[in-house]
Amino acid sequence: MKNTNLKKCFTASLLGIIALGGYAQVNYVEPPIMGWSSWNTYRVNINEELIKKQADAMISQGLDKVGYHFINIDDGFFGFRDEKGILHTHPQRFPNGMKGIADYIHSLGLKAGIYSEAGANTCGSLWDGDKNGVGVGLYGFEHQDANLFFNEWGFDFIKIDYCGAGQQLDLEEQERYTEIVNAIREVCPRNISLNICRWAYPGTWVSSLAHSWRISGDINPSWESVKYIIDKNLYLSAFAGNGHYNDMDMLEIGRGLKPEEEETHFGMWCIMSSPLLIGCDLTAIPASSLQLLKNKELIALNQDLLGLQAYVVQHEHGGYVLVKDIEEKRGTIRAVALYNPTEETCSFRVPLSVLELEGTTRIRDLVKQKDERSVTDFIQFDVLPHGTKILRVEGERRMEPTRYEAEQAYLNQFDDLAKRKRGIAFMPFETASGGMTITNLGGHKDNYAQWNEVFSEQGGPYQMTVQYIPAEKKEREISDRRLEVTVNGNMTVVDKLETDRSKGVAQTTFTVNLQKGYNVIRIGSRFSWSPDLDCFTLTPVK
Ligand code: GLA
Repeated sequence: MKNTNLKKCFTASLLGIIALGGYAQVNYVEPPIMGWSSWNTYRVNINEELIKKQADAMISQGLDKVGYHFINIDDGFFGFRDEKGILHTHPQRFPNGMKGIADYIHSLGLKAGIYSEAGANTCGSLWDGDKNGVGVGLYGFEHQDANLFFNEWGFDFIKIDYCGAGQQLDLEEQERYTEIVNAIREVCPRNISLNICRWAYPGTWVSSLAHSWRISGDINPSWESVKYIIDKNLYLSAFAGNGHYNDMDMLEIGRGLKPEEEETHFGMWCIMSSPLLIGCDLTAIPASSLQLLKNKELIALNQDLLGLQAYVVQHEHGGYVLVKDIEEKRGTIRAVALYNPTEETCSFRVPLSVLELEGTTRIRDLVKQKDERSVTDFIQFDVLPHGTKILRVEGERRMEPTRYEAEQAYLNQFDDLAKRKRGIAFMPFETASGGMTITNLGGHKDNYAQWNEVFSEQGGPYQMTVQYIPAEKKEREISDRRLEVTVNGNMTVVDKLETDRSKGVAQTTFTVNLQKGYNVIRIGSRFSWSPDLDCFTLTPVK
């Protein structure tokens, strides 16, 4: 690989201020954090010696050299809150206090992370019988604890959980996390890396508050768990970006998964730009797992300065093809995953056009770190059950995209908390393209789907075909379904829609005008529901 991190940083600072190609300002961002966290192996049973040993091993195993810099202390360090409200560390486990351990971590050239809870009682107090976790959360002590964690103790990262807050106090997520983050910002002038842990994608508000946020329940070292989390993240790429990431939880590499499962786990966390927090005992990590965690070419996908999350472009025979730009927006180099979650070998056949590439295309297997034969038409590989090929693909030319999936869109009102009645959601539909649609679109001006980077090389008129799933008018609905399609602010309304669902996917075609470069297309319906949406295609009018 020709691109070293150093070279990239240099290029980034140069290019960050230059507009390229007349399209969009190049915007390089802070990558996801990399490091180690205590939870997966030790749960609440942590102490000063243990954390120091892991920090030492981070260095002796050479992990810091490839980018792992955070040592994150999860639940288990709490002592008690005294009658003045001051938080104390567990006196036996951390005899030199948290400043002592943070100083030690910093003395190694590493960064230190800490953990707290949005409510009063920690997850450990609810699930791990940690009596010290009662009353030690941030609830009512936001400024005071922020001052302690960041100014007095010197931590650089915080993960804020939601056990006491959700299960005992029933607080409202957005409001509660806003209060906490405001307090941290008021108290601490440094840039603290902030992680929100709500066990589901919490809503689009989260990216203005946190650098990363959990999208799933806790990981465990099993294939089912890895697969469940990848599934949760397949359609969330539009909610990440600009230095803010979907957190797939800490890594279970080195904890007994099969080799191909470890490759899928690490490869998918890399290409989906999740934070990379190792969760095993670093002093006893198997050689093959360590080698995988140190694979610089995979890490480069995760730390790529465009900061993008790969999205699904093909779903066939149970396998998924995901792709993202790396190094340059809309360039000729892309990262591709061929992900096989099934129990059978999956034969992938991916036309280059699906990847928006053409011409002689070079392929490199980033797990094996080996070049494959170049192709001119399609990429073909057999992938083992639970396995994934992660490829760097370099074409001769980049093609204009023609298809935009509903499940790739930014859904303004989406969350995965299932709190809203008829909330917008992803809905499988077998004959839809990619097998996926979005449902409960419209009904309000803010409940739309939006594609922010619809690209046109020349600009001009296009035939736009919207594919949707017909919906019959229900008795209690006051109006029929509508599609309001807004292209750069200009709206086309389609209200003559198919209503016979038995016909399967239906379509409607009209002409729109695109400008050269990026366009914003929004679909919704302000005063009635839209039908379930599959995708749209764009064909230039000659
Ligand atoms: C929750 C989080 C975990 C971990 C524990 C600590 O379960 O999701 O990652 O932090 O709490 O108790």
